[in-house]
Parts: sequence; C-alpha cells; structure tokens
Amino acid sequence: MSKENLSPAWAAAFDIAIDHGEGSYLYDTAGKRYLDFTSGIGVTNTGHAHPRIVKAIQDQAAKLIHGQIGVGKAQCVLDLTDELMTVLPKQLDMFHFGNSGAEAVEAAVKLAKQVTGRTNIIAFEGSFHGRTHMTMAMTKSKTSYSVKYQPLPSGVFSNPYAHCYHCPISKRTMSDQARAELSASCPDDGGACCGWPLEQLHFLLKTQSAPSETAAIVVEPLLGEGGYVAPPASFLRGLREICDHYGILLVFDEIQTGFGRTGKWFAMEHYDVLPDVVIMAKGLASGMPISGIAANHKVMGSWSPGSHGGTYAPNVVCAAAGVETIRVMRDEKIVENAAARGAQLRKGLLDLKKEFGQIGDVRGLGCMIGTEFVKPDGSPDAATMNKVNQYCTEHNLLMLTCGTYGNVIRWIPPLVVTEQQIDESLKIFAAALDSVA
Ligand SMILES: Cc1ncc(COP(=O)(O)O)c(C=O)c1O
Repeated sequence: MSKENLSPAWAAAFDIAIDHGEGSYLYDTAGKRYLDFTSGIGVTNTGHAHPRIVKAIQDQAAKLIHGQIGVGKAQCVLDLTDELMTVLPKQLDMFHFGNSGAEAVEAAVKLAKQVTGRTNIIAFEGSFHGRTHMTMAMTKSKTSYSVKYQPLPSGVFSNPYAHCYHCPISKRTMSDQARAELSASCPDDGGACCGWPLEQLHFLLKTQSAPSETAAIVVEPLLGEGGYVAPPASFLRGLREICDHYGILLVFDEIQTGFGRTGKWFAMEHYDVLPDVVIMAKGLASGMPISGIAANHKVMGSWSPGSHGGTYAPNVVCAAAGVETIRVMRDEKIVENAAARGAQLRKGLLDLKKEFGQIGDVRGLGCMIGTEFVKPDGSPDAATMNKVNQYCTEHNLLMLTCGTYGNVIRWIPPLVVTEQQIDESLKIFAAALDSVA
C-alpha cells in the first residue's frame, strides 16, 4: 500500500518513514535517529518501547486480548483502578474507561448531564477536547477543527481562560516584559490574576447559561493546544468556588497534563484544587489506546447502569499496559525526572529569551512548556516559529506547535529524557534562533 491510499484528513507535521522507537528516540527506515520531543503528542511519557511495558503487553496478549467488561471483569482492569487510586486524590475513587481522549470527555459530559439533570456545558477559549461532534463543540482553540462540520451540538458556552500574556486587562495595564514575567511565574502568582476571566464567567452565568441549567465546567488545568498556558492558581480556585456555589460539576481535562507531564502526577496538584471529575488518556498506558474518567462514589455511583459503555473499553491489553506504566513511573521516579528536566529546560529557554527577542513568552509547568514567537510589535509570528522549527527538524529534533495563531512551539519531551538530551535540544534550538536572527 502506498501513502496515496491514506486519507489526507490527518495533519502531517513531518513525513518520516518511522521504523521503531527507543526511549527518547525515533528511528526511520534508513536508520536515521530523531530526538522525539513530540512524544507522539504527549503520550510516550515512559519513552518509546519501555521493556517492562512491552513485556506486560506481550504477557497479557498471550493470555487474553479482548475481555468484554459486560461479560466479566479481568484482573488487570481491577489492578488498573488500584494503581490509579495510588496516584489520584483519594476522593476520586470510581472509574469508567474508554478508548480515546475524546471518548472520555464525552463520558464526563454524559455523566455530568445525567447526575445533575442539567443540560449545559461551559468550556474555555483556547481549549481542545477532541474531534467528535460534542468535543468539537467544546473545542475553542481553532476553527480548523470544526470548519464545515457545523451544526455542532448546542448547549455549549465558552468563557475566557486566564491567559496572563494575552489578557486584555494586563495588555492595557502592563508592559510586555511584566506580562511575560507574570505568565512565566504562574501558578505561584500569589493572587496576581486580575480576576477578569472569573468576572466574565459570572456574567456568562447571568446572561447565557443559567446555573440551574449548567451541568459542568470543563477546563484544562494547563491549556494545551491553545498555547501551553499555566493559569494563576486563583483562576482554578475561583472556578471551584463558583461550582460549589451553584452545584455545577468541575471537570478537569487532564488528558495531556496527566501522568507526570507537568512534574507532578496530575496538574491539579500544582493548584491544590480538587475537581469532581478528572479525565485521563494519553500518558495513561504509554501509547496503548485507553482513556478514563475518575470521580467520587457519590457522583459516579449515580450513573444509571447501562447508560454508557462500548464494545472494547477497557481493552485488557491496554489496561495491563496502564498498570505497568504507573508501576514503572513510580519505580523509576519518572515524575521526579520530569520536574528536574522541566526546570532545566525552562531555565535554558528563559536564558534564550533574554538573547532572542523573537521569543515573547516562555511558560508552562514541568515538561510541558511553550515558547511563543512574536514580532517586535508583540503580534504573533508564526513565520519565524516555522523557520525555527524547520531548522530543528533538519537537525533531527522533532517538536510540535500549538496556539490559536500557530506561533507556539511545544516542548513535551518523553519524561525519561536525560540531562544531556535536554542540553542537546537547547543547543539545536539556539542554533535555529541564530539562523533566523
Ligand atoms: C486536553 C485534551 N483533551 C482531549 C484530547 C483528545 O484526545 P484524543 O485525541 O485521544 O481523542 C486531547 C488530544 O490532544 C487533549 O490534549
């Protein structure tokens, strides 16, 4: 089969004839080695083909490949819930599994609607929640995800995210430098957020979606596709207060931020905010397709039997990979490594920002960092970013981009990345910046 037989619908950031992967590296069929800082869109947190996870997959596949949950509960599924309970807040102790991130978002929305008896969902500008019809309706990062797919489900409302670097209030009142410092310092802002996004939310609840009709507020605790934005703590704490006040469920989409990506098991830990529902996928099983939602017994336990499910999920081979992923991450202190390497990366990028004015902002947490490219007047500079990224690709460093204006490079190395690999990536990036200066 040639490439011509594959649908053009997939975005093609690169065109590599992938052969295999090992740790932080991908290899093409000619044996060329790439430092893979895409992590397969933030999935391969334990690196490519971790031997223990490969073995767990092989062992489970030899025993049973499809163990339909309605027929029986395989031990590896029960083990997965046990392992998840060791890394999640103890209140989130009931689970439902799916196959993909979007499916898990759908599940969280269905749960919230049924449990609250309310119809509406509030999402945020810049958010990405998936590509099914409901998750497209909730995705507000770019129109390219929804163009020509309208009409989308109704009952979805959107509110501004706390994006300090682009906040209209701080843009009017602060210098570029001060905004960048505020953005980089999140979430330890000590209350520095101007409070505008929360004011807007109160307004939205007055003007568009009555609290009595609002089932859930769904939010990424660190905005991913929308530009890698860590909000000030007061934003997420404010959402918690509003949800408590009106009986709305607070749902954290930790699909990209979970499983060590931000230097903690889950991003919510940076903020000390407990959601009612957390959504997980990506890093959960090192690349095997499984997703899940976790909630407390009161919320999840009210879901009527038979009202949600599917043929495959949770696939038992994927569940076994999830169990081993969590054990490997704990045994090899991968979350701690993500925090240390993230700090190294962040420092290196902030140093480069001082030297190269094209970088307007460096922000994020752990190994989830964005570098935003701007023109001298502060407007988005996707052209320069593309040239820089092209140089990196030509020098075998693979990175993805994001942001509404496509001007942010996302730094999401595998969480097993070494100190030397981070240094190497910074050297390539510095040379790329030099080449466009
Ligand atoms: C925050 C977030 N939510 C949802 C999704 C959708 O996940 P999937 O592509 O597995 O459906 C993604 C994928 O990038 C994501 O980053």
